[in-house]
Amino acid sequence: MRKLTIAIDGPSGAGKGTVARAIAAGLGYRHVDSGAMYRAVGWKALGEGVPLDQEDAVAALAGAARIDVTAAAVTIDGIDVTRAIRTPEMDRAAAAVARLPKVRAVLVERQRQVGADGGIVMEGRDIGTVVFPHADVKIYLDATPEERARRRASDPSRSGVPSAVSDVATLLTERDRLDRTRAASPLYAAADAVVVDTTGKSVEEVVKEVMQVVEARRQPPATSR
Ligand code: DC
Repeated sequence: MRKLTIAIDGPSGAGKGTVARAIAAGLGYRHVDSGAMYRAVGWKALGEGVPLDQEDAVAALAGAARIDVTAAAVTIDGIDVTRAIRTPEMDRAAAAVARLPKVRAVLVERQRQVGADGGIVMEGRDIGTVVFPHADVKIYLDATPEERARRRASDPSRSGVPSAVSDVATLLTERDRLDRTRAASPLYAAADAVVVDTTGKSVEEVVKEVMQVVEARRQPPATSR
């Protein structure tokens, strides 16, 4: 059977990671978290003292870096940053570098290379709109800000982070605003995306809903004979 390209977009805390991982595991596809690439670039820029608003310098750093995002780990130039990139400081750094069109151009190109053969579930903000505009399946996951903040506050990958739901809600709302209003590839649902509101639903329910969309696309098109 043909291997599909599946794009999963949406704001922070909508459940993209959990759902994308489950869908990829169910299909035997590769799962790629594109946000981790922006985080890794932000991490390296901060570490090297490159100001996050210097577009050419950050883009040069991104272009020269080897970034590997696998199900198990995120590395940049061989350094494991899996945990280091999940802090409020890196949330801000990633959002800052993600605003820069030249940085996006570098990372979008890498994301296209990674997904060139299909058999991939890629999650992010612009996967269905920019990275893979011809993806076989486009899902846009959303949830109320309260629910998204609750999920973020209890995310086990973010240890050592202030986890009062109200603090998380404030930070998350601000970051969403940046992602939705930036000039370069802002967050929005592609016209042909299936929008799934995950508020109040279990992971199993959402995965089932998304799998139904995927299965419908896997069926060979009906011939008119
Ligand atoms: O999904 P995340 O929170 O790890 O993403 C980190 C930042 O990168 C966030 O500000 C959104 C941005 N991002 C993006 O602009 N485009 C993507 N495809 C993925 C993430």
